[in-house]
Amino acid sequence: MILEPKNGPWPTDGATHSWGMLDQASTFAADTDNLYVFIFILTVIAFIGILAVMGYFMYAYRRKTPDQKTSSITHNGKIEFLWSAIPAVLMIVIFVWGDIAWMRQTTPPTDAMEVRVTGRQWAWDIEYPDYPGVRLSSSNDENDPQTTLVIPKGVPVKFVMTSTDVLHAFYIPAFRIKRDVIPGRYNTMWVEATQTGTFTIYCAEYCGDLHSKMFGVVKVLEPEDFEAELMRLKELLGKQQEGETTVQFGERLTKQNGCGACHSVDGSKMTGPTWKGLWGRTSQFTDGTSATVDENYVRQSILEPNAKLVSGYAGQMPSFQGKFNDEQLAAVIAYLKTLK
Ligand code: CUA
Repeated sequence: MILEPKNGPWPTDGATHSWGMLDQASTFAADTDNLYVFIFILTVIAFIGILAVMGYFMYAYRRKTPDQKTSSITHNGKIEFLWSAIPAVLMIVIFVWGDIAWMRQTTPPTDAMEVRVTGRQWAWDIEYPDYPGVRLSSSNDENDPQTTLVIPKGVPVKFVMTSTDVLHAFYIPAFRIKRDVIPGRYNTMWVEATQTGTFTIYCAEYCGDLHSKMFGVVKVLEPEDFEAELMRLKELLGKQQEGETTVQFGERLTKQNGCGACHSVDGSKMTGPTWKGLWGRTSQFTDGTSATVDENYVRQSILEPNAKLVSGYAGQMPSFQGKFNDEQLAAVIAYLKTLK
Protein backbone atom coordinates (compact mmCIF):
# COMPACT_ATOMS: atom_id res chain seq x y z
CA MET A 1 0.00 0.00 0.00
CA ILE A 2 1.25 3.42 -0.92
CA LEU A 3 -1.19 5.30 1.26
CA GLU A 4 -0.83 3.74 4.64
CA PRO A 5 -0.67 6.19 7.49
CA LYS A 6 0.82 4.75 10.67
CA ASN A 7 -2.35 4.63 12.72
CA GLY A 8 -4.90 4.59 9.97
CA PRO A 9 -7.30 1.73 9.41
CA TRP A 10 -6.15 1.25 5.84
CA PRO A 11 -6.60 -2.24 4.54
CA THR A 12 -3.34 -3.93 3.58
CA ASP A 13 -4.91 -5.97 0.78
CA GLY A 14 -2.97 -9.06 1.81
CA ALA A 15 -0.10 -9.60 -0.57
CA THR A 16 0.05 -13.18 0.68
CA HIS A 17 -0.10 -14.57 -2.85
CA SER A 18 2.99 -16.55 -3.81
CA TRP A 19 3.69 -14.23 -6.76
CA GLY A 20 3.58 -11.20 -4.51
CA MET A 21 0.17 -10.22 -5.80
CA LEU A 22 -2.74 -8.91 -3.78
CA ASP A 23 -5.14 -11.15 -1.90
CA GLN A 24 -7.40 -13.11 -4.19
CA ALA A 25 -10.60 -11.93 -2.57
CA SER A 26 -13.16 -12.77 -5.25
CA THR A 27 -14.10 -15.68 -7.48
CA PHE A 28 -12.56 -13.82 -10.44
CA ALA A 29 -9.18 -13.27 -8.86
CA ALA A 30 -7.64 -16.68 -9.59
CA ASP A 31 -8.73 -16.57 -13.27
CA THR A 32 -7.23 -13.15 -13.77
CA ASP A 33 -4.01 -13.97 -11.94
CA ASN A 34 -3.47 -17.33 -13.65
CA LEU A 35 -3.87 -15.82 -17.09
CA TYR A 36 -1.63 -12.94 -16.10
CA VAL A 37 1.07 -15.30 -14.82
CA PHE A 38 0.71 -17.48 -17.94
CA ILE A 39 1.29 -14.46 -20.22
CA PHE A 40 4.14 -13.29 -18.00
CA ILE A 41 5.93 -16.66 -18.14
CA LEU A 42 5.39 -16.89 -21.92
CA THR A 43 6.87 -13.45 -22.34
CA VAL A 44 9.90 -14.30 -20.23
CA ILE A 45 10.50 -17.54 -22.16
CA ALA A 46 10.14 -15.72 -25.51
CA PHE A 47 12.41 -12.90 -24.36
CA ILE A 48 15.19 -15.21 -23.16
CA GLY A 49 14.78 -17.57 -26.14
CA ILE A 50 14.94 -14.83 -28.77
CA LEU A 51 17.94 -13.15 -27.13
CA ALA A 52 19.76 -16.51 -26.84
CA VAL A 53 19.19 -17.39 -30.51
CA MET A 54 20.19 -13.89 -31.54
CA GLY A 55 23.40 -14.13 -29.51
CA TYR A 56 24.18 -17.55 -30.94
CA PHE A 57 23.61 -16.41 -34.54
CA MET A 58 25.77 -13.34 -34.02
CA TYR A 59 28.59 -15.62 -32.93
CA ALA A 60 28.08 -18.55 -35.31
CA TYR A 61 27.64 -16.45 -38.44
CA ARG A 62 30.17 -13.74 -37.76
CA ARG A 63 32.47 -12.78 -40.63
CA LYS A 64 35.50 -15.04 -40.37
CA THR A 65 37.73 -13.62 -43.14
CA PRO A 66 37.77 -10.10 -44.67
CA ASP A 67 36.64 -11.36 -48.10
CA GLN A 68 33.92 -13.77 -46.88
CA LYS A 69 30.64 -13.41 -48.81
CA THR A 70 27.17 -14.11 -47.45
CA SER A 71 25.79 -17.29 -48.93
CA SER A 72 22.51 -17.03 -50.83
CA ILE A 73 19.54 -17.78 -48.54
CA THR A 74 16.05 -18.51 -49.88
CA HIS A 75 13.56 -19.73 -47.31
CA ASN A 76 12.72 -22.64 -45.05
CA GLY A 77 9.08 -23.68 -45.17
CA LYS A 78 9.16 -25.78 -42.01
CA ILE A 79 10.67 -23.05 -39.81
CA GLU A 80 8.37 -20.39 -41.24
CA PHE A 81 5.37 -22.58 -40.54
CA LEU A 82 6.49 -23.16 -36.95
CA TRP A 83 7.15 -19.51 -36.16
CA SER A 84 3.68 -18.66 -37.42
CA ALA A 85 1.76 -21.62 -36.01
CA ILE A 86 3.20 -21.73 -32.47
CA PRO A 87 2.48 -18.05 -31.68
CA ALA A 88 -0.94 -18.38 -33.34
CA VAL A 89 -1.84 -21.30 -31.07
CA LEU A 90 -0.59 -19.40 -28.01
CA MET A 91 -2.63 -16.32 -29.02
CA ILE A 92 -5.73 -18.47 -29.40
CA VAL A 93 -5.14 -19.99 -25.95
CA ILE A 94 -4.81 -16.48 -24.45
CA PHE A 95 -7.92 -15.29 -26.29
CA VAL A 96 -10.14 -18.23 -25.36
CA TRP A 97 -8.92 -18.21 -21.75
CA GLY A 98 -9.51 -14.46 -21.50
CA ASP A 99 -12.85 -14.65 -23.27
CA ILE A 100 -14.21 -17.34 -20.95
CA ALA A 101 -13.19 -15.26 -17.92
CA TRP A 102 -14.62 -12.10 -19.53
CA MET A 103 -17.98 -13.76 -20.23
CA ARG A 104 -18.15 -14.94 -16.63
CA GLN A 105 -17.30 -11.47 -15.35
CA THR A 106 -19.85 -9.68 -17.52
CA THR A 107 -22.80 -11.96 -16.84
CA PRO A 108 -24.12 -11.37 -13.32
CA PRO A 109 -26.28 -14.13 -11.81
CA THR A 110 -29.94 -13.14 -11.89
CA ASP A 111 -30.27 -13.46 -8.11
CA ALA A 112 -27.39 -11.07 -7.42
CA MET A 113 -27.86 -8.43 -4.73
CA GLU A 114 -28.00 -4.98 -6.30
CA VAL A 115 -25.81 -2.12 -5.12
CA ARG A 116 -25.88 1.37 -6.64
CA VAL A 117 -22.54 3.10 -7.15
CA THR A 118 -22.29 6.79 -8.00
CA GLY A 119 -18.99 8.47 -8.73
CA ARG A 120 -18.66 12.22 -8.31
CA GLN A 121 -15.77 14.61 -8.02
CA TRP A 122 -14.31 13.31 -5.72
CA ALA A 123 -16.11 10.64 -3.80
CA TRP A 124 -17.97 7.37 -4.18
CA ASP A 125 -21.60 7.13 -3.02
CA ILE A 126 -23.06 3.69 -2.37
CA GLU A 127 -26.75 2.92 -1.98
CA TYR A 128 -28.62 -0.32 -1.41
CA PRO A 129 -32.02 -0.55 -3.13
CA ASP A 130 -32.92 -3.43 -0.77
CA TYR A 131 -32.03 -1.36 2.29
CA PRO A 132 -33.51 2.12 1.80
CA GLY A 133 -31.87 4.89 3.76
CA VAL A 134 -28.41 3.37 3.81
CA ARG A 135 -25.99 5.62 1.99
CA LEU A 136 -22.24 5.17 2.35
CA SER A 137 -19.61 7.48 0.92
CA SER A 138 -15.86 7.61 0.65
CA SER A 139 -13.81 10.28 2.41
CA ASN A 140 -10.87 12.25 1.08
CA ASP A 141 -9.03 11.93 4.37
CA GLU A 142 -6.08 9.54 4.09
CA ASN A 143 -5.92 9.31 7.88
CA ASP A 144 -9.55 8.37 8.17
CA PRO A 145 -10.71 6.35 5.15
CA GLN A 146 -14.37 5.49 5.60
CA THR A 147 -16.16 2.23 5.06
CA THR A 148 -17.53 2.95 1.61
CA LEU A 149 -19.04 -0.39 0.70
CA VAL A 150 -20.18 -3.37 2.77
CA ILE A 151 -20.93 -6.70 1.09
CA PRO A 152 -21.51 -10.24 2.33
CA LYS A 153 -19.06 -13.02 1.55
CA GLY A 154 -20.14 -15.70 -0.92
CA VAL A 155 -23.11 -13.72 -2.26
CA PRO A 156 -23.07 -12.37 -5.81
CA VAL A 157 -23.32 -8.58 -5.80
CA LYS A 158 -24.20 -6.58 -8.89
CA PHE A 159 -23.05 -2.98 -9.08
CA VAL A 160 -25.19 -0.58 -11.10
CA MET A 161 -22.93 2.38 -11.61
CA THR A 162 -23.09 5.92 -12.91
CA SER A 163 -21.42 9.29 -12.49
CA THR A 164 -22.86 12.73 -11.81
CA ASP A 165 -20.09 14.64 -13.56
CA VAL A 166 -17.14 13.14 -15.44
CA LEU A 167 -15.70 9.70 -16.17
CA HIS A 168 -14.49 7.78 -13.14
CA ALA A 169 -13.60 4.10 -12.84
CA PHE A 170 -14.66 1.92 -9.94
CA TYR A 171 -11.70 -0.30 -9.15
CA ILE A 172 -11.26 -2.89 -6.41
CA PRO A 173 -7.84 -4.50 -6.96
CA ALA A 174 -8.32 -7.36 -4.47
CA PHE A 175 -11.44 -8.43 -6.40
CA ARG A 176 -9.73 -7.84 -9.79
CA ILE A 177 -12.68 -5.79 -10.98
CA LYS A 178 -12.62 -2.40 -12.65
CA ARG A 179 -15.07 -0.57 -14.84
CA ASP A 180 -15.70 3.00 -15.97
CA VAL A 181 -18.61 4.93 -14.52
CA ILE A 182 -20.08 7.30 -17.06
CA PRO A 183 -22.39 10.30 -16.68
CA GLY A 184 -25.77 9.80 -18.32
CA ARG A 185 -25.72 5.99 -18.43
CA TYR A 186 -25.48 2.92 -16.25
CA ASN A 187 -22.64 0.43 -16.35
CA THR A 188 -22.80 -2.83 -14.46
CA MET A 189 -20.23 -5.11 -12.93
CA TRP A 190 -20.55 -7.94 -10.47
CA VAL A 191 -18.47 -9.80 -7.95
CA GLU A 192 -18.61 -12.56 -5.38
CA ALA A 193 -16.23 -12.05 -2.50
CA THR A 194 -14.46 -15.13 -1.19
CA GLN A 195 -12.90 -13.86 2.00
CA THR A 196 -13.87 -11.52 4.79
CA GLY A 197 -11.78 -8.45 5.49
CA THR A 198 -11.26 -4.93 4.26
CA PHE A 199 -9.92 -4.01 0.83
CA THR A 200 -9.16 -0.80 -0.99
CA ILE A 201 -11.35 0.89 -3.60
CA TYR A 202 -9.74 3.26 -6.08
CA CYS A 203 -10.82 5.54 -8.87
CA ALA A 204 -8.87 4.33 -11.89
CA GLU A 205 -9.67 7.10 -14.35
CA TYR A 206 -8.08 10.54 -14.06
CA CYS A 207 -11.03 12.75 -13.16
CA GLY A 208 -9.56 16.03 -11.97
CA ASP A 209 -7.08 17.29 -9.43
CA LEU A 210 -8.29 15.21 -6.47
CA HIS A 211 -8.48 11.98 -8.49
CA SER A 212 -5.84 10.42 -6.27
CA LYS A 213 -7.99 11.10 -3.20
CA MET A 214 -11.01 9.27 -4.57
CA PHE A 215 -10.42 6.16 -2.52
CA GLY A 216 -12.59 4.04 -0.29
CA VAL A 217 -12.73 0.86 1.74
CA VAL A 218 -14.84 -2.20 1.05
CA LYS A 219 -15.70 -4.39 4.01
CA VAL A 220 -16.58 -8.05 3.36
CA LEU A 221 -18.55 -9.72 6.15
CA GLU A 222 -20.03 -13.13 6.81
CA PRO A 223 -23.57 -13.12 5.37
CA GLU A 224 -25.10 -13.37 8.86
CA ASP A 225 -23.29 -10.21 10.00
CA PHE A 226 -24.00 -8.20 6.88
CA GLU A 227 -27.43 -6.78 7.65
CA ALA A 228 -26.56 -5.88 11.21
CA GLU A 229 -23.51 -3.94 10.03
CA LEU A 230 -25.55 -2.07 7.41
CA MET A 231 -28.12 -1.12 10.03
CA ARG A 232 -25.36 -0.08 12.43
CA LEU A 233 -23.82 2.14 9.75
CA LYS A 234 -27.22 3.59 8.83
CA GLU A 235 -27.74 4.56 12.45
CA LEU A 236 -24.19 5.81 12.93
CA LEU A 237 -23.91 7.79 9.70
CA GLY A 238 -27.35 9.34 9.63
CA LYS A 239 -28.07 10.21 13.24
CA GLN A 240 -26.60 12.38 15.93
CA GLN A 241 -24.89 10.07 18.41
CA GLU A 242 -25.06 10.24 22.15
CA GLY A 243 -22.45 12.62 23.48
CA GLU A 244 -22.10 14.29 20.11
CA THR A 245 -23.08 17.95 19.75
CA THR A 246 -25.10 19.13 16.76
CA VAL A 247 -22.04 20.98 15.48
CA GLN A 248 -19.91 17.82 15.75
CA PHE A 249 -22.62 15.86 13.98
CA GLY A 250 -22.71 18.45 11.20
CA GLU A 251 -18.95 18.34 10.81
CA ARG A 252 -19.06 14.55 10.65
CA LEU A 253 -21.76 14.70 7.96
CA THR A 254 -19.61 16.97 5.80
CA LYS A 255 -16.70 14.53 6.17
CA GLN A 256 -18.86 11.48 5.46
CA ASN A 257 -20.07 13.12 2.28
CA GLY A 258 -16.68 14.17 0.99
CA CYS A 259 -17.56 17.89 1.06
CA GLY A 260 -13.95 18.72 1.87
CA ALA A 261 -12.94 17.68 -1.63
CA CYS A 262 -14.28 21.00 -2.92
CA HIS A 263 -14.80 23.28 0.11
CA SER A 264 -11.91 24.28 2.33
CA VAL A 265 -12.34 25.39 5.93
CA ASP A 266 -9.10 27.41 5.99
CA GLY A 267 -9.91 30.00 3.35
CA SER A 268 -8.05 28.37 0.46
CA LYS A 269 -9.78 28.39 -2.90
CA MET A 270 -10.76 24.97 -4.20
CA THR A 271 -13.37 23.76 -6.69
CA GLY A 272 -16.07 25.38 -4.54
CA PRO A 273 -16.08 28.48 -2.31
CA THR A 274 -14.35 28.14 1.06
CA TRP A 275 -16.48 27.69 4.16
CA LYS A 276 -14.23 29.88 6.28
CA GLY A 277 -16.17 32.96 7.27
CA LEU A 278 -19.14 31.76 5.26
CA TRP A 279 -21.84 32.89 7.66
CA GLY A 280 -23.07 36.43 7.00
CA ARG A 281 -20.81 36.80 3.98
CA THR A 282 -22.35 38.44 0.92
CA SER A 283 -22.07 36.18 -2.10
CA GLN A 284 -22.03 37.58 -5.65
CA PHE A 285 -23.72 35.32 -8.15
CA THR A 286 -23.06 34.75 -11.83
CA ASP A 287 -26.44 36.26 -12.72
CA GLY A 288 -25.44 39.61 -11.21
CA THR A 289 -27.50 39.28 -8.02
CA SER A 290 -26.11 38.86 -4.53
CA ALA A 291 -27.29 37.52 -1.20
CA THR A 292 -26.18 37.27 2.38
CA VAL A 293 -25.40 33.72 3.46
CA ASP A 294 -28.09 32.50 5.81
CA GLU A 295 -29.96 29.27 6.59
CA ASN A 296 -32.16 29.40 3.51
CA TYR A 297 -29.29 30.15 1.18
CA VAL A 298 -27.21 27.24 2.52
CA ARG A 299 -30.16 24.91 2.40
CA GLN A 300 -30.85 25.81 -1.22
CA SER A 301 -27.15 25.52 -2.12
CA ILE A 302 -27.07 21.95 -0.78
CA LEU A 303 -30.33 20.81 -2.36
CA GLU A 304 -30.19 22.84 -5.59
CA PRO A 305 -26.54 23.75 -6.02
CA ASN A 306 -27.02 25.30 -9.45
CA ALA A 307 -29.84 27.66 -8.47
CA LYS A 308 -27.38 30.37 -7.46
CA LEU A 309 -23.81 30.10 -8.63
CA VAL A 310 -21.16 32.12 -6.87
CA SER A 311 -19.16 34.19 -9.38
CA GLY A 312 -15.89 32.57 -10.37
CA TYR A 313 -17.06 28.98 -9.85
CA ALA A 314 -18.42 26.43 -12.30
CA GLY A 315 -21.62 24.62 -11.36
CA GLN A 316 -19.87 21.41 -10.44
CA MET A 317 -21.69 20.44 -7.27
CA PRO A 318 -24.13 17.52 -7.37
CA SER A 319 -27.51 17.95 -5.68
CA PHE A 320 -27.96 16.43 -2.23
CA GLN A 321 -31.74 16.39 -2.63
CA GLY A 322 -33.06 13.31 -0.88
CA LYS A 323 -29.67 12.62 0.66
CA PHE A 324 -29.91 14.93 3.66
CA ASN A 325 -32.98 15.07 5.86
CA ASP A 326 -33.97 18.16 7.84
CA GLU A 327 -32.18 17.07 10.99
CA GLN A 328 -28.98 16.53 9.03
CA LEU A 329 -29.30 19.85 7.15
CA ALA A 330 -29.77 21.66 10.45
CA ALA A 331 -26.61 20.03 11.80
CA VAL A 332 -24.58 20.98 8.73
CA ILE A 333 -25.83 24.56 9.03
CA ALA A 334 -24.95 24.62 12.73
CA TYR A 335 -21.42 23.48 11.84
CA LEU A 336 -20.97 26.00 9.02
CA LYS A 337 -21.92 28.82 11.40
CA THR A 338 -18.92 27.97 13.57
CA LEU A 339 -16.38 28.38 10.74
CA LYS A 340 -15.36 31.95 11.40
CU1 CUA B 1 -12.71 9.73 -10.02
CU2 CUA B 1 -10.48 9.53 -10.80
